[in-house]
Amino acid sequence: MNTNPIDEITKNYITNNYSLFPELPFEKLIRDFQELNLIYKCAIKEVYTKLEVLSEEFQVKRQRNPIEYMKTRVKSIQSAVEKVHRKGFDLSIESIRTNLHDMAGIRVVCSYVDDIYAIADMLTSQNDITLIEKKDYIKNPKPNGYRSLHLIVEVPVFFSDHTELVKVEVQIRTIAMDFWASLEHKLHYKSNVTKCSINIKNDLKECADIIAQTDMRMQSIHEMVEKLEDDIELKEIKI
Ligand code: GTP
Ligand code: MG
Repeated sequence: MNTNPIDEITKNYITNNYSLFPELPFEKLIRDFQELNLIYKCAIKEVYTKLEVLSEEFQVKRQRNPIEYMKTRVKSIQSAVEKVHRKGFDLSIESIRTNLHDMAGIRVVCSYVDDIYAIADMLTSQNDITLIEKKDYIKNPKPNGYRSLHLIVEVPVFFSDHTELVKVEVQIRTIAMDFWASLEHKLHYKSNVTKCSINIKNDLKECADIIAQTDMRMQSIHEMVEKLEDDIELKEIKI
């Protein structure tokens, strides 16, 4: 989990780019960013625990785990500064908190498409969770073939003398969608792919569609297997 207190790299970054930041004493700036990091780190813990609870309950009641694995990260100060600049927002703690909805991120990887929606519904129906935004790139995939369900949720985090409402981005996808997104993501970091990139992009798009069909077929097979299991259990009870 990339949620360490402000590390040396970040301190060096702030030192080297001190002029970018609002006029604050260096020590205050570091403390502010440390606090910001803490707030997001704790918000991730809150949502992560909720997801773990849901998964464990599902395991006990249905004898299987809907979540294969989860990954978390707090966006680095460097990326946050770059993003507020790119989007034309002010650079301040307030601006980061208001304008960047993905400072805290959790990626949830499920086996089956139905589990994605089940997890999303169970999470967002909890009393202390507010759904800020939902983007369904499964029902409406991006033109490049990207699929995932994105939620921005707000969760309260209780500190010693005050409560913070903090936004967390939750990306929920299947193992196959995650496999695809990891490879597609790499494409953005390779500058020398431009020439052959049309072929690569077409290939990736085709793979995304095949993956989506496979996900649907796996879902149906899984449902049939579960039904067979139920039938066998029912027979055993009758005997
Ligand atoms: P940004 O947060 O500025 O990226 O814009 P947005 O809020 O409109 O983004 P969106 O909700 O569409 O996507 C947010 C995140 O989803 C990205 O930071 C990526 O992690 C992931 N994502 C979105 N589109 C793609 C894509 O085409 N390929 C891959 N690999 N990941 C994507
Ligand atoms: Mg975003």
